[in-house]
Amino acid sequence: MQQDKVKVQLSGISQTMLGCLWGRAQLSKRYSSLFYDEKAIELVEKIDYDLSTSDDEPFQDIRRSISHKLNLPEFGLFTLRARQFDEKVKTYIEEHPRASVVNIGAGLDTTFYRVDNGLIHWYDLDLPAVIDIRRRLLPEPDRVTYIARSVFDPSWCKDISYTEDGVFMIAGGVFHFFEEAQVKQFFSMLADNFHGGEIVFNVLSRSGDSFGAWMDIVSPEQRDVIRTELVDAIKDWWKRAPQGQKEKLNDMIATLELPKKPKGKAWSDLEAWWNQLSDKEMTEVMRGFRRSFRGGVDVWEVEDAHEITKWDGRFTVIDQFPIFKNIPRDSLDANMRRFMDYSDERARSSIIHLRV
Ligand SMILES: C[S@@+](CC[C@H](N)C(=O)[O-])C[C@H]1O[C@@H](n2cnc3c(N)ncnc32)[C@H](O)[C@@H]1O
Repeated sequence: MQQDKVKVQLSGISQTMLGCLWGRAQLSKRYSSLFYDEKAIELVEKIDYDLSTSDDEPFQDIRRSISHKLNLPEFGLFTLRARQFDEKVKTYIEEHPRASVVNIGAGLDTTFYRVDNGLIHWYDLDLPAVIDIRRRLLPEPDRVTYIARSVFDPSWCKDISYTEDGVFMIAGGVFHFFEEAQVKQFFSMLADNFHGGEIVFNVLSRSGDSFGAWMDIVSPEQRDVIRTELVDAIKDWWKRAPQGQKEKLNDMIATLELPKKPKGKAWSDLEAWWNQLSDKEMTEVMRGFRRSFRGGVDVWEVEDAHEITKWDGRFTVIDQFPIFKNIPRDSLDANMRRFMDYSDERARSSIIHLRV
């Protein structure tokens, strides 16, 4: 008898963990020599959720649908960060076999199963709604503890009880959702509680918008496809969107510094305006859309890890490198290779390793 699938209802940032899980499963199915996560494939099968729906960030759907049409698997690619994290964790636990490893904003990430040496203690920390889903799908194995709390609530630090052989933390796809002041507060909390501990996480740089990257990389014909797709997708969204969201979009457009503005607030005005935008302006608009549907928050973006050591002198930078560094490209198609090279050359997204 087929097992009932687990229904998943999440909103806001928590919902994004499904995209990460899906990305890892996709990579594992298509490019298993690059990255393989059997648990991710299993989990995707167990979840009753349509990845094409996303109430909080409608334009995420649009980007995803364009990626599908042009066979640009952007989503899967960023989850390759997991391969880099795996290497970092494995290196650390070789030296510290009984370490505690804390996975901050764990979502449905299954790094533990890929790196476990039989001795480490593992902690998966996320918000209660996510930990509840995690528990239903993946009951806590031995030596693994789930912590259902916000990463900004310092009380979780006291739950990390096995600290004699060091504490190593990973945070994949977490900090770029928050404002700088919150991230600063998080790092000072780490320094207060985990002297000698290490953390590896990924960041986005200020030039990190992936939509803009695709516009730069693809051929002129594909760029035209993107433009057309985008207008069609937004038109489709417009038909379904609640009035409040349409107003939000119009308000956002009003704040953009662009030479021309739509004449009115109806779809026909928007469409006419949209078609006049240059590729560069369109990228700017997409960036604004994304920000606006994230509650207008200017999220944390950083170029150089030393910005963190300037905030708090207790940190040392051990490493910082572009997200796709040393990942073999031979088995990938040309667009993917170009996207990875483009990202790395501009350091659009990088991995940072710090010690307290
Ligand atoms: C993009 S997902 C990444 C999930 C996971 N690290 C992965 O790579 O699959 C971001 C995660 O951060 C979690 N998150 C957001 N705000 C949080 C908070 N205040 N405290 C703990 N986790 C949080 C979300 O619930 C979500 O699981």
